[in-house]
Parts: sequence; C-alpha cells; structure tokens
Amino acid sequence: MPPTGNFTPEKTADGSFTFFSAEFGETFHSVHGARQEAEGKFVGPTGLAVKALQPALRILDICYGLGYNTAAALATIWAVNRDCHVEWVGLELDPAVPEAAIAHHLLDSSPAPIPQLLTELVQSGEIHTDRLIARLLFGDARETLREVCQSGFQADAIFLDPFSPPTCPQLWTVEFLGLAGKCLKADGVLATYSCSAAVRTALMAAGLQVGSSPPVGRRSPGTVASFTAAGLPALSPQEREHLRTRAAIPYRDPQLCDSAEAIVRRRKEEQQASSLEPTSHWKKRWLNRAFS
Ligand SMILES: C[S@@+](CC[C@H](N)C(=O)[O-])C[C@H]1O[C@@H](n2cnc3c(N)ncnc32)[C@H](O)[C@@H]1O
Repeated sequence: MPPTGNFTPEKTADGSFTFFSAEFGETFHSVHGARQEAEGKFVGPTGLAVKALQPALRILDICYGLGYNTAAALATIWAVNRDCHVEWVGLELDPAVPEAAIAHHLLDSSPAPIPQLLTELVQSGEIHTDRLIARLLFGDARETLREVCQSGFQADAIFLDPFSPPTCPQLWTVEFLGLAGKCLKADGVLATYSCSAAVRTALMAAGLQVGSSPPVGRRSPGTVASFTAAGLPALSPQEREHLRTRAAIPYRDPQLCDSAEAIVRRRKEEQQASSLEPTSHWKKRWLNRAFS
C-alpha cells in the first residue's frame, strides 16, 4: 500500500471536513457535508433515535474512516437515553485516517464525552466504560468482518460506508454483504449511501429486503436493508425496474480475496453475457416518461 499519511482537511458545505484519498481517487464524503451524510444516510435511516430507548444497542461501523458516522450515532443515542449501553465494532483499513481526524480535531464539535472517547479508541484500539464497549479493528474488512461474524456479534445497526462500488468493489460483493448480513440481528437495519442496483441485488442475495432512504444533499437516495420489510421505505417503480437491468448484476468475490480489477472484470463479463435489459434502455424509458 502506498503511504497514506498526508490527509489535509477539506471543508464541506455543512462546515464539517473531509479528506481526499490519493489511493482511491475519491473524497471520503460528499461535498454537501460529512456530518449531514452521517446523520441523513446512516443514523436516521437505521432508526437509532428510536432504538436508543432500549437499554443496550450493538453497532457495526464498516469503514470507520474519520469517525463521523460513529460520532453522530453516539450523539443521537445518548441524547435520547444517556444510559443506553453501546457495544460497538468498527472496521478500517488504514489507521492513518482516524489518526489524522483526531490530529486535526475534526470530531471536537460532538458533545462530550464523544471526542475524548473516540480519541482513546483510535489511540488504543478499544474502550471499556460503563456505557461504551468498543473495538476498532484495522485491516482489510474482508478479513476483520469474518472475525466479527465468528464472535457471534449481532448488530442492531450496520453502517456500510466504503468508497464507491467501481472504486472499492471488494466491499460491495455478494460474498462480503453476505457476511455483513450474518452480523445483523433479525430486526436490525443496515444503511448505506449507495443506491446502486448491483449493491441492492447483493443485499437481496444475502436474504435482506431493501428500501430507499431519503436523498441527502444530492438527488439520489441511499439504501436501507433488513430481514423484515416492515418499516422499510418502499422502492419506487423506477427503482424496482432498475433491479431487472444489467446494472443489477452484482460484484462477486468467491474467496473474498480478489483484486478490485479482477472483481470489476468478472462483473463486466457477466454483464456482456447477460440477457437482462441494457440499463441504457431503462434510463431512456424513464427520461421519456418524465417529459411526456
Ligand atoms: C468513504 S470512507 C468512510 C468514511 C467514514 N465512514 C466516516 O464517517 O468518516 C471509506 C473508508 O474505507 C476505508 N477502506 C478502504 N478499503 C478498505 C478495506 N478493504 N477494508 C476496510 N476499510 C477500507 C478507507 O480507508 C476509508 O477510511
């Protein structure tokens, strides 16, 4: 892996900050705002404000990054119920990312004691307090997620926040999302910012029902998934049709160890051999409907 230590905070529209990843060629958040995305795409759609009425919650944060999603989750939970006991596991490839977020004080506007707790978490990898038990696992999430599954961890909420599917396909495959599903409680909710048909199909292959989360900042919605459809915002007819086009052919990584290039190539070959409708036809049909 090339050196990744040089992260410079870039201001987003809501006043929070993001980084640019030279390795992946993407910013870590949308230009509309890291905090807005954390609240609107992850904390809101997983229903944490209501779940926080329970005495205890379990959260799995896939791609911890700068820590915005977790900081927003803890703030919401403890604003509702300061005694809610949180058991938390986070997965992140590159320790330099959360370390840089702490060094630049990016989470300092979260309510106390969240900045102190997350600083300690990043420095020591784990925390045990009377209301937070947390472990931050560094490495490829394809490996660390296996560990989490084997430990029997069952999440009330999963945040799925990798870089985009074409850039980081290894964390959006049928096999990886199958593992994520194994760590989700029967009534738990997984949320992601992506509305990609390939991602939705992969979640469905894991036995999950999928719904649309409201658009935040940009026009496109995100996705929520759960084993029960109750409470999931339904997909629109246009989104349901999208799932019957070639765009819905998911990424696959049979042994959970292929390179991004191999995973992208495998999907492209499957798309070329497919008898599903080309996605361009679906796009054109819905464009015509919009103007008729
Ligand atoms: C979009 S950012 C996540 C932003 C983050 N959720 C937040 O609240 O700031 C994606 C993160 O995925 C991490 N990542 C990339 N590949 C990974 C992998 N194979 N396993 C685990 N993490 C990975 C990157 O280092 C980056 O921090």
